[in-house]
Amino acid sequence: MTNAAETSPTPVDPDAPAARPLSPGAFVQSDSALAGRLVERLGRIEVLLDEVVAQASALPDETCHHLLRAGGKRIRPVLVLLAAEFGTSDQIDVDRAAAAVELIHLATLYHDDVMDEAPMRRGAPSAHAVWGNSVAILTGDLLFARASLLTSMMGPEAVRLQSETFERLVLGQLHEFTGPVDGADPIEHYLAVLGDKTGSLIATASEFGLRFSGAPESLIAPLREYGEKVGVAFQLADDLIDLVSDGAKSGKRPGTDLREGVPTLPVLHVRADAAAGDPAAAAVVELLDADLSSDDALERARAALVAHPATARARQVAEAWAEDAVKALAAVPDGEVKDGLIEFARTAVSRVA
Ligand code: FPP
Ligand code: MG
Repeated sequence: MTNAAETSPTPVDPDAPAARPLSPGAFVQSDSALAGRLVERLGRIEVLLDEVVAQASALPDETCHHLLRAGGKRIRPVLVLLAAEFGTSDQIDVDRAAAAVELIHLATLYHDDVMDEAPMRRGAPSAHAVWGNSVAILTGDLLFARASLLTSMMGPEAVRLQSETFERLVLGQLHEFTGPVDGADPIEHYLAVLGDKTGSLIATASEFGLRFSGAPESLIAPLREYGEKVGVAFQLADDLIDLVSDGAKSGKRPGTDLREGVPTLPVLHVRADAAAGDPAAAAVVELLDADLSSDDALERARAALVAHPATARARQVAEAWAEDAVKALAAVPDGEVKDGLIEFARTAVSRVA
């Protein structure tokens, strides 16, 4: 572990392939009034985020801005804004909600990268790689404190929703770490983990957007269900990106999950196939269970897993979750906002290289 006092911060490499914010044009007609509103609003939220993470002393100010400035797709704020289109979207609490969900997400990433020992995030060195584990964890806590400040301005209902969501984020991460209890189905366990660690915050982003724009309460249940499912689809796609991307698009180092032994869906599928007697799957499992500390061994295991049908099946599962998310919108009024939500769900999985 590095010590902050001995380490000068590594600047973000300007040529590094940081994950870029998704343009609202990815979800809605790029020349529409809606796209214009989203772009303008996201610009305001960037300013709010930049201000709200600021710290008086230099080190925490730098560490808190680190991942914010490294990029990110801002999918949670976009979803708050899209959902708010069902109400009177131009409310200050909608901006606060959009910033708060991004900050909660950012806070979890600082912690997650420590737990995953991930060297890169958003094309930049991860915070713990620059300042050490303690500073990275405390930075996540600071961001969470600022997110809580924002939700406190939105009232007790927002604080309650944030608390419930935060509990699910932590339990999702914890249950991923502990694995299934004896006798539980590993794939069901994994999908429940994804619902908690990713679906919960995305569902809350849509609920925040609806509640704080005064949208009809009847939309909360379908949009929460949509968010839960998009979250699972998104995280399944993320797992595939860890396997199949070259890192240039994702801004992360490929194979991190394999090296850390995270049992993602392709791995769970190939283990199930091996247990069912598929010799090709058994050969992949042997590579996965080898010492993956060398880059060669990791690359052999990664390539073998990608070539096995288990990975293609995992991709189909991700697509099916995205389509289930779309089905959850059946009772939502038709129009360009709904079309945007549908596109948003499909984009979540189509970004897999
Ligand atoms: C990314 O998963 C991690 C999450 C979506 C949730 C992490 C939640 C916590 C660390 C809970 C504790 C948080 C705080 C602030 C107390 P991943 O590793 O599969 O995705 P990645 O590829 O983006 O790293
Ligand atoms: Mg991770």
